[in-house]
Amino acid sequence: MSGKIISICNRKGGVGKTTTTIALAQAFQTQDGYKTVVIDTDPQGTASHALLGDELLFSKEIESKFLHRTLESSTLDKKSPDLTLVLRRMARAPSDRPDVPLSIVPISPDFWEYERRLRRKYGPIRLGNTKPVHRFRKLLRLLRAEYDVILIDTPPGMFELFETVIRNSDAIIVPCVPDPLSAWGMQVFKDALDATPIRESNYIRTLWTQFDPASNWMDNVDHLLAKNFPITPFGIKDSNTVGEQRQHVGIGQYVKVPIGIQAIEPVSWNQMYPSSVKTDILKVCELIKADIFGVTP
Ligand SMILES: Nc1ncnc2c1ncn2[C@@H]1O[C@H](COP(=O)(O)OP(=O)(O)OP(=O)(O)O)[C@@H](O)[C@H]1O
Ligand SMILES: [Mg+2]
Repeated sequence: MSGKIISICNRKGGVGKTTTTIALAQAFQTQDGYKTVVIDTDPQGTASHALLGDELLFSKEIESKFLHRTLESSTLDKKSPDLTLVLRRMARAPSDRPDVPLSIVPISPDFWEYERRLRRKYGPIRLGNTKPVHRFRKLLRLLRAEYDVILIDTPPGMFELFETVIRNSDAIIVPCVPDPLSAWGMQVFKDALDATPIRESNYIRTLWTQFDPASNWMDNVDHLLAKNFPITPFGIKDSNTVGEQRQHVGIGQYVKVPIGIQAIEPVSWNQMYPSSVKTDILKVCELIKADIFGVTP
């Protein structure tokens, strides 16, 4: 099977992109036994930090694997490059499946300076036919051959690899808080997607996040959908139809920060999240598996 690329994107910051990326990675790896790799394309490096921890993130071993180093060097130009040079094979993962890799292509804040250099060299956002883009595409191809699922965590705002990520994704997940201000940001982001020809797939879904499951958040969602919300949410076939008894799907409020992200000793997936959050994550995974992997429950 060729691995599927799932990108988690939204230009709006703080909507839950990284949290969603990590939650899905952990779920696919532990619950489905999928070989999973996360590519961190956000120079803030939150996903790298969560999946490697302080000590490894600042070690010599990781320094040589940072995304800008990979795209700068000729490592990927070889016929069959050694992938261990560009990623960390075993990232911090739940304790359930030590036999299944959860890997990470890490990033560091130096990527911002690297992007500035690219802009100086190639002009703004014109990376269509350049070495860094060829190398990034090659990386995606190689990862597809080795992994079942490739999750790409992306930064807020603009970034130079945006077009390449969007064009090569089998699925684009757009986390969004169900409130009017986030909904406004979704229109802006949809306009950016529409301006980017999407080659691999047209599968784009809103994922509701950061709501209180005990609140009337589903009413808020109905209200947003009634106003022609621009990106179809998970669990809905037709975003223009508002149902009376709709059961919306999303990843609701974490009662506590997933302790697995901070734990020194790895804990099992079951210990990481409260059960309502686990149910939410599994429901989203089920929909992705049905739509993208063709796996039905
Ligand atoms: N489903 C959720 N429910 C409640 N809080 C959440 C949820 N998802 C994320 N958060 C919290 O919201 C904050 C922002 O989350 P996160 O860092 O994942 O967002 P982001 O979109 O990746 O941010 P950035 O745009 O800076 O990369 C964090 O404090 C996180 O713990
Ligand atoms: Mg983030």
